[in-house]
Amino acid sequence: MKCDELCTVASATAIGGGYSMLLLDAPAISKEVAPGQFVHVRVPALAESDLRRPFSVFDARGGRIEILFKSVGRGSELLAKVRPGDRMRVAGPLGRGFPDPAPGADALLVAGGYGVAPLHFLSARLKEKGFAGRIVLFAGGRTAADLLQLDRFAALGVECRTATDDGSAGAKGLVTVPLDAALEECRRSGRPFELFACGPGGMLKAVADRAMALGAPGWISMDRHMACGVGACFACTVKTRDPKGGVANARCCVNGPVFKAAELVWD
Ligand SMILES: Cc1cc2nc3c(=O)[nH]c(=O)nc-3n(C[C@H](O)[C@H](O)[C@H](O)COP(=O)(O)OP(=O)(O)OC[C@H]3O[C@@H](n4cnc5c(N)ncnc54)[C@H](O)[C@@H]3O)c2cc1C
Ligand code: FES
Repeated sequence: MKCDELCTVASATAIGGGYSMLLLDAPAISKEVAPGQFVHVRVPALAESDLRRPFSVFDARGGRIEILFKSVGRGSELLAKVRPGDRMRVAGPLGRGFPDPAPGADALLVAGGYGVAPLHFLSARLKEKGFAGRIVLFAGGRTAADLLQLDRFAALGVECRTATDDGSAGAKGLVTVPLDAALEECRRSGRPFELFACGPGGMLKAVADRAMALGAPGWISMDRHMACGVGACFACTVKTRDPKGGVANARCCVNGPVFKAAELVWD
């Protein structure tokens, strides 16, 4: 059930590289939200008439939600300045999140930059549910500063494999370098796996292409500029295949943000 909750900031922490972690008292959203869903935040210092900003949930427990975000423009820069005790309206949980992997399959999570956020929440929930398969995170970024919260994944028992464009951490190159090595291991061993991805568009397409080529389920969290966040304005369309083989315009905010790789049509 979606609500518009007045949330209090419990903590706000700059973590370097232009990224921040925000912990919000949000009892109603925290109880309902599932991995891959998002919240729509009214940034306190912006005017009432300004659009809300969408963010994935990094974790939810004990009546609180955590958001990991990068300062990229006016809204996120102002959000990085909030302090404990500040209050803001947050709508959520919104959209459709990730399904659980099938029993017996490994979960291969692929993230670029802040794309780790919904994948951390997915890992935490899978561990709570006693998911027996392996969970492996493939995290990529421009530099080491874009590899985020790996200690939180490690604390959950998630294996982390990394890549950076400049080679400052992990393999040098795209995140598909360690991913392709792991996919080859899976091919040889015959172990079933599912792919879960969140990050920049090029990376999402690369993961979706691999899921399709290997006949494995792929779950892709699409990133679109959003306005209403609730399906009313069509600002956030994503091209998908319709059942008759044509192309349809799905709304990322209500039909996604997570889509099946097989549903997506790439420009
Ligand atoms: C479902 C969903 C989940 C998201 N989760 C997170 C998250 O967990 N952490 C996080 O840091 N960000 C996340 N984002 C992106 C975040 O919403 C945008 O970065 C934010 O709205 C930018 O607002 P702004 O006012 O700071 O920037 P603006 O001033 O609006 O724009 C500044 C720059 O950012 C670009 N931008 C704006 N919106 C987006 C967007 N949706 N995606 C990519 N670039 C954008 C603009 O083109 C421009 O170049 C998510 C977006 C969606 C749709
Ligand atoms: S943001 Fe309005 S329909 Fe998706």
